[in-house]
Amino acid sequence: MSVLSIDGLVTGFGDRTVHENLSLEMRRGEILGVVGGSGTGKSVLMRAVIGLVAPRAGRIDLLGTRMDAASEAERRAALRRTGIMFQDGALFSSLTLRQNVEAPMRERLPHLDPRTSSGAAELKLALAGLPPEAADLRPSEISGGMRKRAGLARALALDPELVFLDEPTAGLDPIGASAFDRLILDLRAALDLSVFFVTHDLDSLAAICDRVAVLADKRVVAVGTVPELRAIGHPWIERYFGGPRGRAAFGA
Ligand SMILES: Nc1ncnc2c1ncn2[C@@H]1O[C@H](COP(=O)(O)OP(=O)(O)OP(=O)(O)O)[C@@H](O)[C@H]1O
Ligand SMILES: [Mg+2]
Repeated sequence: MSVLSIDGLVTGFGDRTVHENLSLEMRRGEILGVVGGSGTGKSVLMRAVIGLVAPRAGRIDLLGTRMDAASEAERRAALRRTGIMFQDGALFSSLTLRQNVEAPMRERLPHLDPRTSSGAAELKLALAGLPPEAADLRPSEISGGMRKRAGLARALALDPELVFLDEPTAGLDPIGASAFDRLILDLRAALDLSVFFVTHDLDSLAAICDRVAVLADKRVVAVGTVPELRAIGHPWIERYFGGPRGRAAFGA
């Protein structure tokens, strides 16, 4: 069963087209890696799915809701079942981590008792691997790796079925990145998550992704396991996975 189905998507800004007739199917429970050169539209794709970029054409089915045809209430209901971690983290700098995680809860559930939301936020921070004392710190007071975890905690705020992670391990040291990868695997197992995982990290792709979708030429040119992708013989895919870094991560 698919949690996300995109068909014939067209997006762009002004006279620049970013996606042209892009299609993609994501299965429930999978960790789907999304790769593509810088500027190919990975972040815009994510933003189009969650409604922050208006598509020019195409069909987006998110958790069974036709986003382009649904009412505002139906769209909000589908979005409530998703969690998003933006590329730049986008934590509120003036709020503590606890308040950052509470923010989406308060927005969607305005009548929630503050003690309940505070406790729920602490649970999400713990799930993301942060120590209890981190809850009262602000983003500027913690390391970049901890900020990534806080971003993940906020993405988990509303108990999502599907999370979108935009380069969550960028800028982490290799040990921190692989700890984050393991965390995603553990959370998938514990929470039945499906994970849309934009990354440039070849080790992450090798370690945790079930399939990988490749963005090139304004669309998804292929989806599959890395050996399946390499069998296609697409020049960008070959350069990406067959270069020295790719060989280190996947073997020749
Ligand atoms: N709000 C916007 N207005 C105009 N152009 C935009 C906007 N957002 C993105 N773009 C353009 O859309 C294209 C795709 O951008 P996007 O951020 O999706 O790339 P990306 O694949 O995520 O790259 P990276 O790997 O560097 O994060 C780029 O050319 C970018 O300049
Ligand atoms: Mg991006």
